[in-house]
Order: sequence, then C-alpha cells, then structure tokens
Amino acid sequence: MSVVIAVDGTAASGKGTLATKLAEHFDFAHLDSGSLYRLVALGVVDAGGDPNREADAVRAAQAIDHRRASDPAIRTAEMGRVASLVSVFPAVRAALLQYQRHFAAHPPGGEKGAVIDGRDIGTIVCPDADAKLFVDAAPDVRAHRRWLELKAAGAAPDEAALLAEIRERDRRDRERPIAPLKQAADAALLDTTHLDIDAAFAAALALVRPRVEAALRAQAKG
Ligand code: DC
Repeated sequence: MSVVIAVDGTAASGKGTLATKLAEHFDFAHLDSGSLYRLVALGVVDAGGDPNREADAVRAAQAIDHRRASDPAIRTAEMGRVASLVSVFPAVRAALLQYQRHFAAHPPGGEKGAVIDGRDIGTIVCPDADAKLFVDAAPDVRAHRRWLELKAAGAAPDEAALLAEIRERDRRDRERPIAPLKQAADAALLDTTHLDIDAAFAAALALVRPRVEAALRAQAKG
C-alpha cells in the first residue's frame, strides 16, 4: 500500500508548489491533477471544439496525451479557464479518475508514496488518503501571486482581470454538482494569505508529518 497525501485547494492558493515540495521532502511521486484537466482543455482547443459541449470535452479526455503534461501551452490563464469549463462534465471526470487512482496506488518510479494536488483528491479520488490538506488564501492575494507568475513568464497580465477570473473559477469549481471543490471533513485547513512559500511549507509539513510518518511505519511493517 502506498502512502498518499491529498492536497486540495483553490486556484493559485500555493497548493501546487506545496505539493511539489512535500513530494521532494518525502521522496514521493507527485501528480498535479489540474494538468490532466488542462490537457483535456488543450485537446478541445486544438481540435477546434467547444469546451461547453460535453461530447467535445469527453472526446478530448479519452484521447489525453500525457506526454504534454509539461507543455507550457497548458499553463496559460486561458487554459486554466477552459480546464474549469470541461471539468464540470461527469464523463470527463470519470475518464480521468482511473489514471489518478492508479498513480496513487502505484506511484511511478517505485516510490513509497504519492502527493496528488487538485480540487477533489481528498473527497473523491483518494478519500482514504493518509494525510489531507486544504489550501486557501484571500482572492486578492491569489490574483497578485498569479500576476507575479505570469509577469515573470514574460506576459503583461491585468491584475483586476485575474482577480475576476479567480472569483469566477472559485464559483464554478465550488458550485458544480459533481466533485465540487470542498474541504474534506478530515482535511487540515492551511490558509496561506499571510505566509510566504517557506512559511507555508513549514506549516504544511507540520500538519501532515505525523500522519505520513505513521503510515510509512505501518507500510514498513507490511
Ligand atoms: O489547479 P489548476 O488551476 O491547474 O486546475 C485547472 C482546473 O481544472 C480547475 O479550475 C478545475 C479543474 N480541476 C478539477 O476539476 N479537479 C481537479 N482535481 C483538478 C483540477
């Protein structure tokens, strides 16, 4: 049995960076589940499809090209928006579920555990995860972080537009009927509004470490 850490949270809350750092710390494999929805979005756009049409989104989800998971084309604000649109369809979510659960149960590289970040990891994908975090921050702080990120990548983003986009994405992710963004009952809340990345990581580690270490000990005993 692999050890699983579920890191859910809002857009630009810092969950992806925290998940990456937790995976490095414990030497676990890391899956950014948002990249799967972004790959579906890319598939729809590349095929000239309509992200609001279920058939187009499902076709893209079934033909997802995992080799493009690190393609910068999926990291744009527009692809995040389209990912949020295609992710409302139950058949799209169902098409991606197996891959995520397989990753959790059999982390690539024979690692002892997996860190998966997303919106529904602790609630739907891995409800039995050994440790669960729910990461959030004030919307204006998240918009500012996104603005800094996009600026560093050479874009000229509009911060007010990013804030509007983040609010809209929160609303859509929280209100969809299937697998909405929501804190699992047994997840620890981490508010990163006033924390820089080092402080947020220290807080995340303090929250998950006891559970992860207990799970690793149980794993070692077999
Ligand atoms: O984390 P992100 O910004 O890369 O995610 C993009 C969109 O994908 C997000 O707005 C909703 C969707 N998503 C989801 O529905 N479930 C997940 N586990 C991860 C992402």
